[in-house]
Amino acid sequence: MTKRKKVLTVLRNKSVLVGVTGGAAAYKSIDLVRRLKEEEASVFVIMTEAAGKFVTPLSLGIASQNRVCSSLFDEPMAHIKMPAAADLLVIAPATANIISKFANGIADDLLSTCLVSHPGKTIIAPSMNWRMYQNRFFQQNLQKLTSAGVIQVGPERGVLACGEEGLGRMAEVSDIVEAAKGALTDRDLVGEDIIVTAGPTREYLDPVRFISNRSSGKMGYALARAARDRGADVTLISGPSALERPGGLKFVEVETSAEMLSAVKSYTSKATVLIMAAAVSDFAPAMRSDAKIEKDGNTTLRLRLTDDIISEVAGAEKRPFIIGFAA
Ligand SMILES: Cc1cc2nc3c(=O)[nH]c(=O)nc-3n(C[C@H](O)[C@H](O)[C@H](O)COP(=O)(O)O)c2cc1C
Repeated sequence: MTKRKKVLTVLRNKSVLVGVTGGAAAYKSIDLVRRLKEEEASVFVIMTEAAGKFVTPLSLGIASQNRVCSSLFDEPMAHIKMPAAADLLVIAPATANIISKFANGIADDLLSTCLVSHPGKTIIAPSMNWRMYQNRFFQQNLQKLTSAGVIQVGPERGVLACGEEGLGRMAEVSDIVEAAKGALTDRDLVGEDIIVTAGPTREYLDPVRFISNRSSGKMGYALARAARDRGADVTLISGPSALERPGGLKFVEVETSAEMLSAVKSYTSKATVLIMAAAVSDFAPAMRSDAKIEKDGNTTLRLRLTDDIISEVAGAEKRPFIIGFAA
């Protein structure tokens, strides 16, 4: 038997109560529970009666390695004891029904009653048909919860269980796990204003061709999310990247190294920290043609060095603490 490598995670030994409700995405809750267990959290699951139509208590019991609760009356005081023992409550998927009940203090089953008695942090991952999601009374309920500090993750736009396309798909399980980590992370960077650069740059030789590199942006995006979770005001200046834009921070999209330099300069005057994780191109074509360069035998491309962003900022009178990355 091989032993799994221990990962350092904020969820280790934390108690997470997962509420599963009766939505088409309920089957994804098994993966969510499994992923939370991988992060070494203790996971307890409460299913609504409707959730039982989509996924079995047995599957969630196997994933959580704990008995799954469903009824208010199976175990006296579970509705008080379970939330009181939890560091975090995550409802995924969260139906229109549970969100509206939660927003209005309705306590008519085990999960909704736990929501009323839970004093701590709560994450909801709404999942429903786009028409339900747009419903104005539902939106008022959602707004009520988020303005009271309930953490909302998703939904995303995409093909829904009903076959229609729209905004209503449950957030990716990995994003829900990220949000859970974020919710339980110490906010020791409150007051810091952190600029993070990420991704590659593109240096054009004509309107359709450019020099770039294979940077994905993953490092910078991860640093930006971590700084955000720890309470910093974060500005993420990103070159072209296929990654999803993280929420809860200022996102500045750039393309060329010159644009990256000007964005960095304009945001660093008030920044306390600059983390340069972007793979800024060292070279750019010496000339940029306004028209597409015609195919003409062997073409020689002359390159010039681009401006070194770190040394530009480091030379400024008022400069932030600078962290640079190099491959
Ligand atoms: C096949 C089917 C799929 C459903 N999918 C969803 C859904 O994705 N989101 C949602 O809010 N409601 C959905 N519903 C409606 C809920 O199951 C219904 O509102 C139920 O009362 C929710 O109960 P709960 O919030 O206690 O789990 C679906 C119903 C059916 C029959």
